[in-house]
Amino acid sequence: ETATDMYYTIVAQTGEVQLLPGQKTKTWGYNAPLLGQTVVFKRGKTIHLHLVNHLPEVTTFHWHGLAIPGPIEDGGCHAPVYPGQSRDVSFKINQPAAFVWLHAHPCPSTAEQVWHGLAAGAIVQDEHEASLPLPRNYGVDDLPIILQDRRFHENNQWDYRADYDPDGVAGPTPMINGTINPYFDVTTQKVRLRFLDGANRREWRLHFSDDLPFTQIAGDLSLLPHPVKMNKLLITCAERQEIIVDFGKYKPGDEVILYSDDVPLIHFRIHEFKPDNTVLPNTLYQRPDPEVDPDVPVHHVTLDGMDESVAMNGKKFKMDRIDFKMPLNQVQIWDICNTNPAPGMIHPYHMHGTAFEVISRDGHAPYPNELGLKDTVAINPGEHVKIKLWFDVPGVFMYHCHIIEHEDGGMMAQLQVI
Ligand code: C2O
Ligand code: CU
Ligand code: CU
Repeated sequence: ETATDMYYTIVAQTGEVQLLPGQKTKTWGYNAPLLGQTVVFKRGKTIHLHLVNHLPEVTTFHWHGLAIPGPIEDGGCHAPVYPGQSRDVSFKINQPAAFVWLHAHPCPSTAEQVWHGLAAGAIVQDEHEASLPLPRNYGVDDLPIILQDRRFHENNQWDYRADYDPDGVAGPTPMINGTINPYFDVTTQKVRLRFLDGANRREWRLHFSDDLPFTQIAGDLSLLPHPVKMNKLLITCAERQEIIVDFGKYKPGDEVILYSDDVPLIHFRIHEFKPDNTVLPNTLYQRPDPEVDPDVPVHHVTLDGMDESVAMNGKKFKMDRIDFKMPLNQVQIWDICNTNPAPGMIHPYHMHGTAFEVISRDGHAPYPNELGLKDTVAINPGEHVKIKLWFDVPGVFMYHCHIIEHEDGGMMAQLQVI
């Protein structure tokens, strides 16, 4: 224990929230009725977490994207916390600045628990990111935005079982940070938005009114090597994409709308702000690019099937089966294939315990906004995506599709790092 250690108690709990006129909606959350406050982790600090389960069923506390020392800290299905019980984990934060998240992960009820509301953002800060001219005034010019969707049934309740779809549960109402139809008061010319797709299955095609251009600066687990200008952004389940929006051409009273396809998500109300001429440096981040020994074979993963028949490499997940063994610190190329031809679903492929680099898509260069470190990558129908990865901690780690019903349905496997 040192003065720089940080302590958090995180309680998974039930609650209720006034989301619509009439009855409150029954929800779950972390230290809150729904979702949870963003946790801020500083690189170099040791974190002590007291994880408490006040739910009526078993849960786990998975740190999606955090570099953790092993499977228990990772909080996948190997680290259950039973009702009324708790678990303590500690680890040192040692990874580049990123936006990661906490969600429940008890297989096979991950999807239902996340649907109830067990998801929260976490920001990792480091000195390099702090040295760059980026907005980072939380809640003022730096906003986490958790994108989800729900269907409201009788008495304003969510009904996971009634909405169940083995290809992923979705609803018609966008829920943004656990709210409906939100607005944001813009008081600075530039605003940083840290998007997280926390939906069970929905991908979002983000764009602004007036086709307002924006700049992407980060992906899942790091800043991008270079800022990328765009006016449309696809985000699939569990991915994070960080952008900076410049509202410089607007005046007080104007409104800018963020859409996904033609569905409005957030209204940005423009207020008075000081001009901001900050220029982003052309290089934001240098990703490590370790060499691959040409004698190490490419490992192939297939994402197979649809609905109840989903599988990975032809098999459904089994907690007591190790699907692959991998030496500690060995750099490998993995080829991930979505075996459903177009127009099938995109599978957002996620790995625990590592940060990977996207090498190619069907032999072509990756998209410019996926050149940083990633933990989740969208695999299009029929496509092969090559990634480069290595593990620097031993243990058993899962990898799976992050359409959460596909994960719970068995499109998941686990490897052991030795
Ligand atoms: Cu977001 Cu297996 O995790
Ligand atoms: Cu994860
Ligand atoms: Cu999938």
